[in-house]
Amino acid sequence: MKVLIINGSPRAEGNTSAAVKELVRTFETEGVETEVCQIGSKDIRGCIACGKCSELGRCVFDDEVNKIAAKFEAADGLVVASPVYYASANATLIACLDRLFYSSHFDKTMKVGASVVVARRGGCSATFDELNKYFTICGMPVASSSYWNSVHGRMPGEAAFDAEGLQTMRNLARNMSFLMKSIALGKEKYGLPEKEAWAPTHFIRDDLK
Ligand SMILES: Cc1cc2nc3c(=O)[nH]c(=O)nc-3n(C[C@H](O)[C@H](O)[C@H](O)COP(=O)(O)O)c2cc1C
Repeated sequence: MKVLIINGSPRAEGNTSAAVKELVRTFETEGVETEVCQIGSKDIRGCIACGKCSELGRCVFDDEVNKIAAKFEAADGLVVASPVYYASANATLIACLDRLFYSSHFDKTMKVGASVVVARRGGCSATFDELNKYFTICGMPVASSSYWNSVHGRMPGEAAFDAEGLQTMRNLARNMSFLMKSIALGKEKYGLPEKEAWAPTHFIRDDLK
């Protein structure tokens, strides 16, 4: 059982890393393997809507995103962690997630998702909602905790003093481990849910074209 963790912070030892380390320690005690990809200072451009991924099954820009896609495909769960910038996720992380979810075509159904947000003070809920949208468009159940998954701190190291935030991380890792293990059992017993072919409508009436 393995969880891939994408850390969107450019600060290697910042507060997002502190939140992620608390998750990793708890996953370990639950017997769940983790791999952390810290992408905040990588050169990851945004999606250019070229549509090439529909032919290739991967992004036309062969960078970190395609490497992460292979790791995501092999994982049972995905945690996306971000510092809050102007009440939103870090822009590099959003560029990465747009391209990762749009260009990869493997089935993500029942891989468990969770997002973690880290801020000095405000914008946590908006960022949390923003990140959870990637999971809820592709059949990924979202793991939750004892509070919305946020940790507070401004300068690196300050997150260590947010006792409730770190407890929220531990509870999240425990709940996510339980969910992944339960889904593995459910898959064995019942298989994945039936999937209908996509029926896109785009809200456009053909008779008005
Ligand atoms: C460009 C920028 C924008 C920020 N915007 C916010 C914000 O909207 N709300 C907030 O509480 N903190 C904001 N912060 C502070 C960071 O969220 C905070 O320092 C956080 O601990 C950074 O995480 P890190 O140490 O993992 O990089 C901002 C920081 C930067 C660099």
